[in-house]
Amino acid sequence: MSETKNNIRVFATCDIGGEALDVLRKRGYQVEVYNQLEPPPKSLILEKVRSGVDALITTLRDPIDREVFEAGKGTLKVVAQDAVGFDNINRADANEYKVPFTNTPEVLTEATAEFAFFMLGAVSRKLYPSERLVRENRWGAWHPYLPFLGDEVTGKTIGVIGLGRIGQAFIKKALAFDVNFLCHDSSFTPSDFLSKVQAELDLRHSNGFTDERRTIQTASLGNVLAGSDFVSLHVPLVREGATPTFHLINEKTLRMMKPTAYLVNTSRGPVVDEAALARALKEKVIAGAALDVFEREPLPPDSPLRDPELEDRARLFHHFASAGRITRLSTDPNRGMAGRTVRSLIDVLEAKGSLADVPCVVNKEAFR
Ligand code: GLV
Repeated sequence: MSETKNNIRVFATCDIGGEALDVLRKRGYQVEVYNQLEPPPKSLILEKVRSGVDALITTLRDPIDREVFEAGKGTLKVVAQDAVGFDNINRADANEYKVPFTNTPEVLTEATAEFAFFMLGAVSRKLYPSERLVRENRWGAWHPYLPFLGDEVTGKTIGVIGLGRIGQAFIKKALAFDVNFLCHDSSFTPSDFLSKVQAELDLRHSNGFTDERRTIQTASLGNVLAGSDFVSLHVPLVREGATPTFHLINEKTLRMMKPTAYLVNTSRGPVVDEAALARALKEKVIAGAALDVFEREPLPPDSPLRDPELEDRARLFHHFASAGRITRLSTDPNRGMAGRTVRSLIDVLEAKGSLADVPCVVNKEAFR
């Protein structure tokens, strides 16, 4: 039985899942939850932090910056983010105030990767226009090619930009669709992974599962964009530095893509210049796009992506890719974001050694 921690106060800016929060309560932590659908105003986060909470549980909706760390000076000991992405947390500020923050890697990799693939199929095989046709009673007659056709995935080339965990999981799932891959990552090349994928593609061919030998290759960003029938984005949002990803997909890069190609984004909204994308869709520079993330979330009512003219070619989802029941709520830190978030929070608050050794602490550099 672990020693109880009655004096530890946690403020969760969102109900990340009752069972997971109960893990903290059972440990004796005092847990207060902001139980609304909307995120709390920043002023409330500041108020709670000023009141001396030891830990914040945050989501990607909460701006966590110098103001928050200043308010928690001497008391705030950890920010546990219920997401793998953490671009809402200012790392330099966290480091300056020596506050560790954690994220939820691994647990949402598979859910996000499979959703990216479903989005890809949904936009290219026109699942939404087809269902709408039936629901709106506009399905006049079966016809070989009217009122529209979709584009097959099988046999095509998929461009994967970003070869981290989610990009790799996406490739592992997509390879069964008998496709070629063109990949690009500006920071590293996972050679061992790429060789294993090629071996798998070769095995599928030698076993007679595919008529043609399929390949996986790395290429420059331009060559991936120019050579792919689908482009799926799996990069973190990086606004500064040598290899920023902010507006990686813009007017110029969209024009490098084939007019028959589809763009899929499950990474972060600002990786794509949405105004440029809306124009590209309208002018048929590319065939379609499926987006789960946006520059502003929720997507503003006046977003050009909502243009009814684009409805059949732009699939829009509500930042939903990791939203599988187990992935979001499991209390198992190896399966669920909620479980991983509370585990990391406990690991930090009850750490015996250096915080640099605590798994899931993102800003380890501040504690070395
Ligand atoms: C979701 O987008 C996440 O970063 O976990």
